[in-house]
Amino acid sequence: MTSKRVLSGIQPTGNLHLGNYLGAIKNFVTMQNDYECFYMLADLHAITVSVNPDELRENILNTAATFLACGLDEKKNIIFCQSQVQAHSELSWILNCIARVGWLNRMTQFKEKAGSNKEKASVGLYTYPILMAADILIYQATHVPVGEDQKQHLELCRDIATKFNNDYKSDFFTIPEPIIPKSVARIMSLRDGTKKMSKSEESDLSRINLTDSKDQIMQKVKKAKTDSEPINERILALDTKRYEAQNLIKIYASLNSESPEKIIKNFDGKSFSDFKNSLAELLVEKISPISDKIKEYKNDKEQLIKILKNGNEQASNTANKTIIEVKKIVGLI
Ligand code: TYM
Repeated sequence: MTSKRVLSGIQPTGNLHLGNYLGAIKNFVTMQNDYECFYMLADLHAITVSVNPDELRENILNTAATFLACGLDEKKNIIFCQSQVQAHSELSWILNCIARVGWLNRMTQFKEKAGSNKEKASVGLYTYPILMAADILIYQATHVPVGEDQKQHLELCRDIATKFNNDYKSDFFTIPEPIIPKSVARIMSLRDGTKKMSKSEESDLSRINLTDSKDQIMQKVKKAKTDSEPINERILALDTKRYEAQNLIKIYASLNSESPEKIIKNFDGKSFSDFKNSLAELLVEKISPISDKIKEYKNDKEQLIKILKNGNEQASNTANKTIIEVKKIVGLI
């Protein structure tokens, strides 16, 4: 096992957005130079809610195209599909027997996603964090880049790994470290600064998709909610409650790889209409090349399938070694 190994994944459930990019993929790209990286299309997680099979097939390839368009190099990284590496599901069952019901009952994302009708939610949606733990532990990943909404799932993964090691008096599983970006751990909706930017939010104006055209980006930034006060150093103070303003400043800072404090200094005293023009320009500069490349990659489906097939094989080789060991430890002959 190498000393630094990364695993992360994204559900192929539609267009990826700026939150996915700044919260996760940007880190994936940086880490590919220093770590052995496994980047996964979490298609088994995608079926925890009902999805149309044709759309899922399409979205798997779209998400693979987006990974490549954002700068992930298929030669440096193992890019693969979760469902094609059987050891994930096998380990997931074993970890189901390690994790406690009380632990799962605390998962806030299940509560949010299941809403008021928990009885009707799929069992898969409930046990989803255990499959996520299997995704990570099957590769003995040391680091897991994610946005803040996945932090609790990562803590659960660490608890499961620790309990397995204790129960079987081994130090078999590596305990993974989450890598969560500081200021953009949670990119908020452009329409409501108290809600996370999300694929499932009804209004498309709430998010910048990585496939948006220049005009769409301009339009969405123009319509983004702000307040009437100018930009000043108080924006970032916890008690100001200028959530939308904070969000836009953080987006700008992350895209430009600078601190929010520096951006506030540069725009000090300016109105949000001035700032929005600069933000829209910056977004177009950073996102449009990605959206152009997504289109190019999507046009070559055969190439995408080839890349995934190759990744599936490589991931399976590593994952199979782990599951053989786990079965031995557990006593499954
Ligand atoms: P998913 O597909 O919901 O999101 C993919 C990644 O994008 C991050 N993210 C955000 N970051 C900042 N601001 C936002 N508004 C925002 N929205 C999404 C997420 O935190 C995530 O990092 N369960 C995972 C997929 C998964 C996985 C794994 C991740 C399956 N197995 C193993 C890591 C390791 C999910 O549904 O992410």
